[in-house]
Amino acid sequence: MTETAKQDRVLIFDTTLRDGEQSPGATMSHAEKLEIASLLDEMGVDIIEAGFPIASEGDFQAVSDIARNAKNAVICGLARANLGDIDRAWEAVKDAPRGRIHTFIGTSPLHRDITALDMDGMVARIHDTVTHARNLCDDVQWSPMDATRTEHDFLCRVVETAIKAGATTINIPDTVGYTYPRESADLIRMLLERVPGADTITFATHCHNDLGMATANALAAVEAGARQVECTINGLGERAGNTALEEVVMALRVRGDILPYSTGIDTTKIMGLSRMVAAVSGFPVQYNKAVVGKNAFAHESGIHQDGMLKNKETFEIMRPEDIGLAATNLVMGKHSGRAALRAKLSELGYELGDNQLKDVFVRFKALADRKKEVYDDDLIALMAEASLNDEDAYLQIKRLRVVCGTDGPQEAELTMLVGGAEKFVDATGDGPVDATFNAVKMLHPHEARLELYQVHAVTEGTDAQATVSVRLALDGVVYSGQSSDTDTVVASAKAYVNALNRLVLHRNRGNLSALMKSAG
Ligand code: KIV
Ligand code: ZN
Repeated sequence: MTETAKQDRVLIFDTTLRDGEQSPGATMSHAEKLEIASLLDEMGVDIIEAGFPIASEGDFQAVSDIARNAKNAVICGLARANLGDIDRAWEAVKDAPRGRIHTFIGTSPLHRDITALDMDGMVARIHDTVTHARNLCDDVQWSPMDATRTEHDFLCRVVETAIKAGATTINIPDTVGYTYPRESADLIRMLLERVPGADTITFATHCHNDLGMATANALAAVEAGARQVECTINGLGERAGNTALEEVVMALRVRGDILPYSTGIDTTKIMGLSRMVAAVSGFPVQYNKAVVGKNAFAHESGIHQDGMLKNKETFEIMRPEDIGLAATNLVMGKHSGRAALRAKLSELGYELGDNQLKDVFVRFKALADRKKEVYDDDLIALMAEASLNDEDAYLQIKRLRVVCGTDGPQEAELTMLVGGAEKFVDATGDGPVDATFNAVKMLHPHEARLELYQVHAVTEGTDAQATVSVRLALDGVVYSGQSSDTDTVVASAKAYVNALNRLVLHRNRGNLSALMKSAG
């Protein structure tokens, strides 16, 4: 084993804002990206991949603002293997206390075909681009995309080239989630043994979850000597997603007897970030998701409940509080004060600054006025709502009034900001939601198809909040939106507008996946 591979500290590289945001429909706004980056930094993530600066002006701005705000984390920008991309990435991260350029090229036979480079041509390109990146920045990461389907001899050759040209981290991506844990480990071992200079750099593992093995593959790579794990919150990412940060971090923590490696992550921040990412990406967390799913700590069966009452360790391998999950379900109401709200939110994994608390308190009071008892789930929905920062959104609902009755048609009067201009319309429809959606469409005509409209009651009772999920599709891309309110029609309108705002954002910045595929 090499010196780096002997270290017992595993670096956590979070790519929620790049690979995660690249998943169809998960487009995030500028403010949302900044908020997530600052929470990741606070949580102790070592490297934040903040975006793909060449992709659009918006991506560039987000990466450079995140770089300027960074406290402890290294801020990384992605670049294809060409000088223009690399210059742009450097431009975006150069103001970070510590910046990194991450450049990549597809090295498998399939990708060599696409880039029309033969092996020698590709080696020359890697040499030139990594050298260029290294002339700009001391911290350069290089990735052979589709490494797990690249011939081993050629993989050794390109990795050696990148190390000689100055790469300080070599990331080995399983781009299509194809590898098995044993293979993932063997690949890292092979590179450590065969590549000259491998002992001078850090190996990273970057796994996709197409066969449900991303976390297992990442941990196997760590066991073999990789000391950087690339992951995303909730496993967000292209297709079936990436390795989930919370799974790797908690697996290392819970099973230190098997893999004795530490991370710098404050695990009590996991739940807050998970909820935040679910809200802003519009990708809800599945109920039985490992670590952060709603049922991950729920004990329903009699035997389990009995065991839990006697000794929690019977059925719990980690404690809810370790990931920032509240241990109680204290009910709040309209007489609860600001301090009680802060304490309750902290139990739920949300640490708020004074200004944020002020805003959330106003929302909480409005909710408590409409709803007698405010439960944990209500507060989680309220926080999700608060995190949907729509001040800079293209479409913003100002006022909605719906007239319902048995002798329809239903009518919706809507005032909405469309790109900054206030507009009003009066529309009818087959039911209040249909009338509202028609009104939105009249003010902002679009071709997207409504693929899903779903309503969930957050808690019980007729005054319960409703969480509405909307999914729109246009040209094969899906855009999700979510919103909660005690009024189902209002929640529906906000969820619909939320999905449309993602569509507008996505249209304005081009298709990231297409850019990735032209990785030369
Ligand atoms: O999956 C992949 O190969 C990537 C690279 C850009 C590292 O995301
Ligand atoms: Zn990836």
